[in-house]
Amino acid sequence: MTQTEDGNDTVTLIDNKTGKQVTMPVLHGSVGPSVIDIRKLYAATGYFTYDPGFTSTGSCESAITYIDGDEGVLLHRGYAIDELAKNSTFPEVCFLLLNGHLPTAAESTEFDVILRRHSMVHEQLTKFYSGFRRDAHPMAIMCGVVGALSAFYHDSTDIEDPVERKIAAHRLIAKMPTIAAMAYKYSVGQPFMYPRNDLTYAENFLYMTFGTPCEPYKVNPILSKAMDKIFILHADHEQNASTSTVRLAGSSGANPFACIAAGIASLWGPAHGGANEAVLKMLEEIGSVDRIPEIVRRAKDKNDNFRLMGFGHRVYKNYDPRAQVMRETCHEVLAELGIKNEPLLDIAMELEKIALSDPYFVEKKLYPNVDFYSGIILKAMGFPTSMFTVLFALARTVGWISQWKEMIEDPVQKIGRPRQLFTGENKRPFVPLNERG
Ligand code: CMC
Repeated sequence: MTQTEDGNDTVTLIDNKTGKQVTMPVLHGSVGPSVIDIRKLYAATGYFTYDPGFTSTGSCESAITYIDGDEGVLLHRGYAIDELAKNSTFPEVCFLLLNGHLPTAAESTEFDVILRRHSMVHEQLTKFYSGFRRDAHPMAIMCGVVGALSAFYHDSTDIEDPVERKIAAHRLIAKMPTIAAMAYKYSVGQPFMYPRNDLTYAENFLYMTFGTPCEPYKVNPILSKAMDKIFILHADHEQNASTSTVRLAGSSGANPFACIAAGIASLWGPAHGGANEAVLKMLEEIGSVDRIPEIVRRAKDKNDNFRLMGFGHRVYKNYDPRAQVMRETCHEVLAELGIKNEPLLDIAMELEKIALSDPYFVEKKLYPNVDFYSGIILKAMGFPTSMFTVLFALARTVGWISQWKEMIEDPVQKIGRPRQLFTGENKRPFVPLNERG
């Protein structure tokens, strides 16, 4: 790296074949690795860069979430995730992600009222559910129903209008618990519960999920606090697969509801949000502590596709700070529910212990991630495994919409259009059917 006369850092790339040099600016963020600005690279050299999985590529400038994967640090707008989980509430974190600062008391009250007032969905939207099979995966329902929101809320789909963008964000955050709870109710054949605006965000979600019209439902404050914490822990995580999907979908000018539906689809995969469901299935399959060595052996075997679900992360090469809080929450919830012997927790804790001391996991820096303990908590709270990723989507909606909004408001934003290293056939003449061998 060298510095220009006006004090700007640059790096120079030399083509060893032609001797041609190109100098590119180095951009520095407020914290974290600097980036080489390669925007002019192709025009200057005729080369593209090649980075499958974007392991070394920054796709945007962002001021929302910062992760230091080596140190296990996660900050939202500068605030550490463990402090937010301990001292804040999910609606407050939503406000923070959307607006950049923690709300004042007045802003907090106003935002709370907005979320409560937007919690109902258009009555006709309820008819969508009956079009799905009862045994449909709730994530399939979420993709469909959230995608359909743009057909009901036309008045907040003009992405050029800042007021409409804000209303769309509020609608999505406020309606997601209602839509998610309805997906659950549909699967168990119970009537949908209308939201109750006297309840907090987390309480309301638990009420709409587990309440019925037949009897009063009393929300357990320890469980609603745990639910709120789980939502906070999943609220945002910078440019992960689903967030990048939302940004890429939005870069073409698509409306926010369609973009969030795209994010939900990406989140569903087992390498991403679907991992919490996969962790529980894995723990159930392990079944007992004495089978752990066998499972660890399989995870280490190069010829076996099996991976320890809930372990490893593209960015964290240290303990995922969210997993730390999740582990504590797990113990709190089980204690509150009087679950003294949870075999799955015993298996999880033993698995964690063994993996953290096994050279394979230590050398590859594979630590438990956010999904490792969340499934045990959610199961104890009464959620079926198929709902786990839905809860992730519900909580991540604020991150997605904040990142989408930031992208739309970024003056350098362009339609996302990666290039490729083409390795297929070059131009060749068409062969008529009767001449093909
Ligand atoms: N079990 C066993 N080996 C693993 C695991 C695992 N869970 N994760 C990574 N490895 C090995 C992998 O085989 C590879 O070994 P080698 O270098 O010898 O080929 C090395 O570690 C690096 O793995 P990678 O696949 O190149 O790493 P990645 O950054 O592309 O993948 C990951 C990250 C999260 C997809 C991966 O660790 C994984 O599949 N974990 C299990 C699924 C999971 O828990 N996902 C939730 C992620 S956190 C929540 C979220 O973001 O949605």
